[in-house]
Amino acid sequence: MAEAKEKRSYETVLAQTENSVTTVTLNRPEKKNAMSPQMHRDMSALLAELRYDDETRVIVITGAGESFCAGQDLKQYFVELDKLPASERDEVKRLSGWRGDGIRNMPKPVVAMVNGWCFGGAFTIITSCDIVIADQEAIFGLSEVNFGFFPGGEVTKVLTEHLQPKHALYYSMTGKPFDGKEAERIGLITKAVPGAELEKETQEVVDSLLEKDPLALQAVKEAWHNSVTAPSPVAHKLAMLIAESVKNKQGGRPGIKQFTDKKYRPGLDSYNWEKS
Ligand code: ACO
Repeated sequence: MAEAKEKRSYETVLAQTENSVTTVTLNRPEKKNAMSPQMHRDMSALLAELRYDDETRVIVITGAGESFCAGQDLKQYFVELDKLPASERDEVKRLSGWRGDGIRNMPKPVVAMVNGWCFGGAFTIITSCDIVIADQEAIFGLSEVNFGFFPGGEVTKVLTEHLQPKHALYYSMTGKPFDGKEAERIGLITKAVPGAELEKETQEVVDSLLEKDPLALQAVKEAWHNSVTAPSPVAHKLAMLIAESVKNKQGGRPGIKQFTDKKYRPGLDSYNWEKS
C-alpha cells in the first residue's frame, strides 16, 4: 500500500492522497464546515491542483467532524463579504464556482461522502459530484426560506435538474430538514448507508472506479454533462468527437480487442486498460 501524501497546505481544507485517491476534507468543524470566502479560495486552488495531479485518479469530498457542510457561512459570506470592495466580492463569487463547473468539469470522478449536516449551498457540491454516498442519518435541508431567503446562486438551478418539482418545491418552501434515506428516495444522492458503513461503502465505489480506464471515465462525464446542457443534435455531434478523441488517445479500441481475444466479459468486468 502506498504511503498517504499531503498536498499543498490550505487553511480551510485538508487533502491527502493514497493509492491514487485524494480525499478532500472541508475543515472548519467548529463552524460545521460552512463555506467561508477563504474556503472558496482554497477549494478553487486545490481543485486546480488536483486536475493536473498525476497521482490523483479519484477525488472524494467529505467534511471534518460531524458535518459535511452547513452551506455558505452566513456571517462571512452574506454579511462581511458585502463590506469588501466590489472587486474582492466578485472574485470570491467567481471562485465559489468550484462547487459547480469546478467539479462537473473535473476530468476525474468526484465522489461525495456525506458524513453529516448538508445545507443550502452545499447542495451545489453534492449535485455536481458524480456519485454521492451519505450516512442515512445525515441531515439535509434547504433552510434558506427559514432565514427569509431562497436557494440562491446555482442552488435553484441544480434542484430543477436533480429533483422532481414537487420534491424540490416542497423542501424549498417548507425548509424542512430530511435524512439520508429521504435524500436517496428523492434522487438527491446515490445511496444512503448506515454511518458505520459509510467509509467502507465509499471505498467500494472508489475501488470500482479505479479499475476503469481513466480516459473512459472522463468521456462518460463529458458526454453526460454535454447531453444535459446541449440540444440533442449538438450533444450527438459532441459525443462523436469525444468518441474519436478517446479512440485516438487509447490507440485504437484495446477494450474491444481484449473482448474478441476472449480475455474478459465486458458485461461483467472492466478491460485491463493498464496493459493495453
Ligand atoms: N454559517 C456560519 N456559521 C455557522 C453555520 C453557517 N452556515 N452553520 C453553523 N455555524 C456555526 C454556528 O454559528 C456555531 O458557531 P459558534 O460556536 O461560534 O456560535 C457553530 O457553527 C456550531 O453551530 P451550532 O448551531 O451551535 O451547532 P448545532 O449542532 O446546534 O446545529 C446546524 C448545527 C443545524 C448545522 C446549525 O448550525 C445550523 O442551522 N446552521 C445553519 C445551516 C444553514 O442554514 N446554512 C445555510 C444554508 S443557505 C446557503 O448556503 C446559501
